[in-house]
Amino acid sequence: MTEQKLDRQPKSTTGKTTTGKTATGKPATGKTATGKSRPEGNPKFLWRSGEMVEWDKATVHLSDLAWSAISAVFEGVRAYWNPESEQLYIFHLDAHLKRLFQSMKIMRMTSAFSKDELTAAFLQLLKANECKGDTYIQPLAYFGGGVPGYMAMLEQPGEIVITTRAAASGLDEAKVVHCNVSSWSRITDNVMPPRAKAITNYQNSRYVSTESFINGYDFGIILNPNGKVSEAAYACIFLIRDGVAITPPLSAGILESITREALKDLLNKEMDIQVIERDVDRTELYLADEVFICGTAVELQSVGSVDRYKVGDGEQGPVVGRLRELFRDVVLGNDLTRSEWCTPVY
Ligand SMILES: Cc1ncc(COP(=O)(O)O)c(C=O)c1O
Repeated sequence: MTEQKLDRQPKSTTGKTTTGKTATGKPATGKTATGKSRPEGNPKFLWRSGEMVEWDKATVHLSDLAWSAISAVFEGVRAYWNPESEQLYIFHLDAHLKRLFQSMKIMRMTSAFSKDELTAAFLQLLKANECKGDTYIQPLAYFGGGVPGYMAMLEQPGEIVITTRAAASGLDEAKVVHCNVSSWSRITDNVMPPRAKAITNYQNSRYVSTESFINGYDFGIILNPNGKVSEAAYACIFLIRDGVAITPPLSAGILESITREALKDLLNKEMDIQVIERDVDRTELYLADEVFICGTAVELQSVGSVDRYKVGDGEQGPVVGRLRELFRDVVLGNDLTRSEWCTPVY
């Protein structure tokens, strides 16, 4: 890779040139390659296997670093602050905890804590950290104790750590990203099961994101080994074609996305749009009227182009626009027909 190529910084979603440094090979400075800063300041507490621990006192031995990551599974959960009702709502906490337990089961890891106990831990931690703004919550489960991560570990309890950080929602504005179809393939169920939300699976996402960044795209879309569309680097994908919403099936190598399920429901029940889960060819992305990616981290973002083929008119389309409004209403707890999706904290 020549220095000249690396100097060609890609456009960010806002159209500004990004200034990330890590792709140049310099040591990480706290900024990701896309120029996003890591959050400043840490919360007061994290929750660690049953105890509230002050952030600075939550240490593990350095030798645990690599091996514990091999077995680690996690969740990314968002809580949304509704300024009108002065309430913080955790979105689909039940579904996230269910998926955490599923990921742990695949790792042959048990939990010393029930779903109810972890729900209580979420609430306790958000209150202790005085979270009164949009928040990202990450429960992480792993085998500690420095056991080499490639060794068999059968049905033993994992350590569970929950952390919080401020993460403003972007649902109040249209976001348009430009994507490439990655040269990397998606991991498969028989290699690194994508339905387990395992830390190690994200090396696949990282190869994809790095390639996209170097080549001036915002996001990579990954094909599975059958050459069918799987998902974006860390988000699921939908396309709208001739009034129908199409999304790859769970067997396409995707994470069993919670946002994807929520949006299917809204498309179907609130917008009267049929949702079809089926294999998707790469060229269908080029011909779609609208394409969007979704997930806890990205929320809902329009895809303006794929491999430099413009999607629709290259802007946020009408379906995504309406869907974003509906979704925002749900996560803020304003859609009373779906209030069971939102757990109030206060
Ligand atoms: C690889 C991957 N796929 C899909 C998603 C979307 O899943 P969810 O909607 O449950 O956040 C994520 C979210 O983090 C992800 O990391």
